[in-house]
Amino acid sequence: MKKIIAYNRVERPVLDDLKQRYDVRFFKGIDPAADSEFLHELQMAEGIIGLELPVDENLLNHAPNLKIISNVSVGYNNLDLEAMKKRNIMATNTPDVLNDTVADTVFGILIATARRIPELDQYVKNGKWEIKAVGNDLFGTDVHHKTLGIIGMGRIGKAIAKRAHFGFDMDILYHSRSRKPDVESTFQAGYRSLDALLQESDFVCLITPLTPETEGLIGKREFKMMKNSAIFINGSRGKTVVETDLIDALRNGDIAAAGLDVYTNEPVEPDNPLLTMKNTVTTPHVGSSTHETELKMSELAAENLEAGLNGRKPPNLVDPSVWTETTT
Ligand code: GLV
Repeated sequence: MKKIIAYNRVERPVLDDLKQRYDVRFFKGIDPAADSEFLHELQMAEGIIGLELPVDENLLNHAPNLKIISNVSVGYNNLDLEAMKKRNIMATNTPDVLNDTVADTVFGILIATARRIPELDQYVKNGKWEIKAVGNDLFGTDVHHKTLGIIGMGRIGKAIAKRAHFGFDMDILYHSRSRKPDVESTFQAGYRSLDALLQESDFVCLITPLTPETEGLIGKREFKMMKNSAIFINGSRGKTVVETDLIDALRNGDIAAAGLDVYTNEPVEPDNPLLTMKNTVTTPHVGSSTHETELKMSELAAENLEAGLNGRKPPNLVDPSVWTETTT
C-alpha cells in the first residue's frame, strides 16, 4: 500500500475512503520543523493531502518518495512551486467548487460590516435594547446602489460581482491583471487602475491570490486613497494587506470599517488590535467552510491525489509543466 500523509482539513468520509486503498497517516496539525514523527513518515510518503501545509526545500529534503501534494484549498501560496518542480513533485488545488460559497461569505461579511450586524446582535443579547426606536448611533450604511470595487477578477471575483450587480444593484468596478470583456458586459463592470478603483469605490473587496506581486498590495498609501467612508473587505489572504497599516487606517479614520476573514498570522494573535475595534467584523478564515463545500473540496483533492499517485494526470494541476510520464 502506498503511504500518504493526511492532515487537517480532510473531511471524514473522504479520509475513510482513502484508508481503504492507502496507508494513511493522519495528523491533526503539523509543525513541520519540530514534528519528528511527521518527518519520519515523510520519508516514506508518496502523497500529502490537507490544508496549507507550508512546503519548502527543507521539508522536501525529507521526502524522497513524494510525488504529489494535494491542497484542500484553491490557494497554493503555501507551496514552493519552484522547489517542487525541481523534484518533479506535482501540486494540485481545488478550484471552482468553492466559488459560490466564498462569494456568499464575502457578501455576508460585507453586509455584516455595513449594517453592523455583529455589534447589534450583542446589543440585543446583552439587554441594551430599552426603547423601541434605537438611536442613529446604531444605524449602518446602505449596501444597495453603492459602488463595489473588486480587486482580483477571477472565478470568485465574478461570483461576487454577480451577487452585487443582480442582487444589490451595485455599480461594479474591478482591477485585475487582464481585462475581462465578459465581466464588463454581463455585470456592466468598469475596469479601473488600482488607484482609480480605490478612489471611486464605497466598498473595496480584495479577492486576489497571494503571490510575490500581490504581497502587501494594500498598505498605507492605498488606504489613504480610499474614501473616508469606505468599507474594506479582505477575503483573499492576510498578507495581501499590510496589517499594521490597516490598523492605522481604521484608527485614523482613513477608512470607515473593515470586514476580515484573513490575517497576517492565523490563528490571529489574541492581542491583535483588530479584535477590539468597533469598526471591524472578523471571521476565522472560513470563506469556503460550509459542510457541503468542504466535502466537495476534500473529494476533489482526493481525486487529484489518487490520479497523481496512480499515473494519471490530476485534473487540477497547478503547474501542468510538472506533468511528465517520468513522475509515475
Ligand atoms: C481558502 O482560503 C482557499 O484557498 O481555498
